[in-house]
Amino acid sequence: MEKRYKKIVCAYSGGLDTSVMVPWLRENYGAEVITYTGDLGQGDDLDAIKAKALTTGAIAAEVDDLRQRFVDEFIWPAVKASAVYEGQYPLHTALGRPLLAQRLVEVAEKHGADAIAHGCTGKGNDQVRFEVTARCLNSDIGIVAPLREWELLTREDEVDYAVERGIAIPITREKPYSIDQNLWGCAIECGEMEDLWAEPPADAWLMTKDPSHAAKGSVELVMRFDKGIPVAIDDRPMGGVALIEYLNNLAGTFGVGRIDMVENRVVGLKSREVYEAPAATLIHMAHTELERICLDRPTFNYKQRISQDYANIIYDGKWFGPLRECLEGFIETSQQTLTGEVRIRVSAGLARITGRRSPFSLYDEGLATYSHGDTFDRASAEGFLRLYGLSYETFSRVRRRDGAE
Ligand code: ARG
Repeated sequence: MEKRYKKIVCAYSGGLDTSVMVPWLRENYGAEVITYTGDLGQGDDLDAIKAKALTTGAIAAEVDDLRQRFVDEFIWPAVKASAVYEGQYPLHTALGRPLLAQRLVEVAEKHGADAIAHGCTGKGNDQVRFEVTARCLNSDIGIVAPLREWELLTREDEVDYAVERGIAIPITREKPYSIDQNLWGCAIECGEMEDLWAEPPADAWLMTKDPSHAAKGSVELVMRFDKGIPVAIDDRPMGGVALIEYLNNLAGTFGVGRIDMVENRVVGLKSREVYEAPAATLIHMAHTELERICLDRPTFNYKQRISQDYANIIYDGKWFGPLRECLEGFIETSQQTLTGEVRIRVSAGLARITGRRSPFSLYDEGLATYSHGDTFDRASAEGFLRLYGLSYETFSRVRRRDGAE
């Protein structure tokens, strides 16, 4: 017999999948359903979502604003870590999942529920992130993934199922896109883009203007960082949520932050992903620039390796694991002097760094200059080079001798 649960807390977005999940969980698991919706800055009307969940048959609908927590506990650590997956994806979806899963578990505990449910498919990364997190935080709570189980194989099947039960179908603009959006960016998927050669359709983009029709001219902005976190734009101190929203808007107007990539999923397949991340693009760019002047060479290089590991941890759903905690130690130490300012000029489709400064800058103009005031001791270069090249000199001499024998 199918497993049965008494009470299930279901991750709920108000879209078709999760709307169908509510009655389906009741019918197939005999459970009461409580929905949970977390606001990560996706821009949806939460009151409407809550009302809708209740008409769909949920006994309660919980909604909360997670934006501040998302920024402080997930986005800023990812910025400090320079976490970008496979060199391109700023991990917006991947960063939101552990927080949503954590809240699902907390809400389940609060209501005495014995399971949680999510609307992820069986071939994506999001199921991994939800389930690894939930089991990490409370392995006594069951997990249901209806999309891996049910017989509703097409969108039409789901619509029929909803109509039979008198459930209002979300009225979407008839765009065939699957979208996951939050403060840090947006992921767009649709059938057309499964062909790697096909250009994403012009109406697929949500956060950015087409660079060819973007605002004319350019604007310059100065981003100030304090210990690795952006805290002000043009001398105006801003909280994290407001700062990210401001930059999304500004860079989006100029069509900056579009990403079209093929990535390696956890489950072993490659997928074509189209992302928009205007604020994330500017912030990572400026942050790395500051590291270029504030970190010494070995630390800067070492951090690049750590960044890749850290990005993989986020992507792979291992946020609450021990390795991230360990790496956090290195990253936090590296960010102690990451204070200063970066100037960026933004124009259609392009963001360029035009200046950088920091009280902790390791750049020494006296050492670097080719003009008057040079403090670099040229004479010591000679002895340095003798020793620096010594092993190569020895190696080549021995090889020539051996070759000659
Ligand atoms: N490929 C990205 C990731 O794995 C984005 C996933 C988008 N998720 C979605 N449900 N549309 O992080």
